[in-house]
Amino acid sequence: MEERMVTGELQDTDSSVELSLRPTNLNQYIGQQKVKENLSIFIQAAKMREEPLDHVLLYGPPGLGKTTLAAIIANEMGVQFRSTSGPAIERAGDLAAILSSLEPGDVLFIDEVHRLPRSVEEVLYPAMEDFFLDIVIGTGPSARSVRIDLPPFTLVGATTRAGLLSAPLRDRFGVLSRLEYYDTDALCSIIERTADIFDSNISKEAAVEVARRSRGTPRIANRLLKRIRDISQVKGESEISLETTNEALQMLQVDEVGLDHIDHKLLKGIIDGFNGGPVGLDTISATIGEESQTIEDVYEPYLLQIGFIQRTPRGRVVTPKAYQHFGIKEDDVE
Ligand code: ADE
Repeated sequence: MEERMVTGELQDTDSSVELSLRPTNLNQYIGQQKVKENLSIFIQAAKMREEPLDHVLLYGPPGLGKTTLAAIIANEMGVQFRSTSGPAIERAGDLAAILSSLEPGDVLFIDEVHRLPRSVEEVLYPAMEDFFLDIVIGTGPSARSVRIDLPPFTLVGATTRAGLLSAPLRDRFGVLSRLEYYDTDALCSIIERTADIFDSNISKEAAVEVARRSRGTPRIANRLLKRIRDISQVKGESEISLETTNEALQMLQVDEVGLDHIDHKLLKGIIDGFNGGPVGLDTISATIGEESQTIEDVYEPYLLQIGFIQRTPRGRVVTPKAYQHFGIKEDDVE
């Protein structure tokens, strides 16, 4: 069996800078108030009972801090954090190797948990429920099933939408937490915290502007901040100014409300190609050359949230609000 699965190392391609930006406990984690409050209580209770925390499913759009939160859960519980992803676990044996290498109470984080192969999922059910595995060894007449007892552990699963999970898997999570887009205040605090870690100064107005144009997403806020800081540094500023921020965001093709060129391509594609819709997801995908899944998981949720598109039974529709944003009258397109 391949070594990669047994080590349980972080499989992210995160740089060390990226990792050092991540808060390590719940108090440092900004926003997601309700999720934090709930987790804090469940963690306290589990610790008082000296039991592992119940399995947790974190769901919501990408970039909102699911991996960070999973690592925080492990840290708050005082256990090891092991991390893998659904597509990386190809066979039941891969899962068996990971689970049997855990210490009691450990957190196993499975990103994209909806992409676990069905055969692996079925082995996971008794592991989650009663901490044992039934593994079939050998084939044909000599095949036999062996039962392996596991240390109790906490599975933290992450997915973009809870609805992507099969019902039996979803039902085995005791805690279901949905992460929401961050408001400007929370993002502003995250940006100021990141600037601090970078040893950079940023003016309040500049931080608010980055926050406003980060699509409610800390990962985007931090990425934009890095580029803005580059430009500010080259200009020799002692503090990142609003002027530089605006200049940089224009350079990065981030518009007034934080939409990037792919958001534009998507909206303009529906407006120009389909008179604003309704149009099916796969048709949009073929027209603009972005994968349906990416549109649905990455781009569409924020456009739905700010009311620029609507989902109808007949497909996606661009709203009057989006037309206004582009300065196009709906009747202009025919
Ligand atoms: N960096 C990314 N997400 C964060 C969050 N929610 N709180 C603090 N820092 C973060």
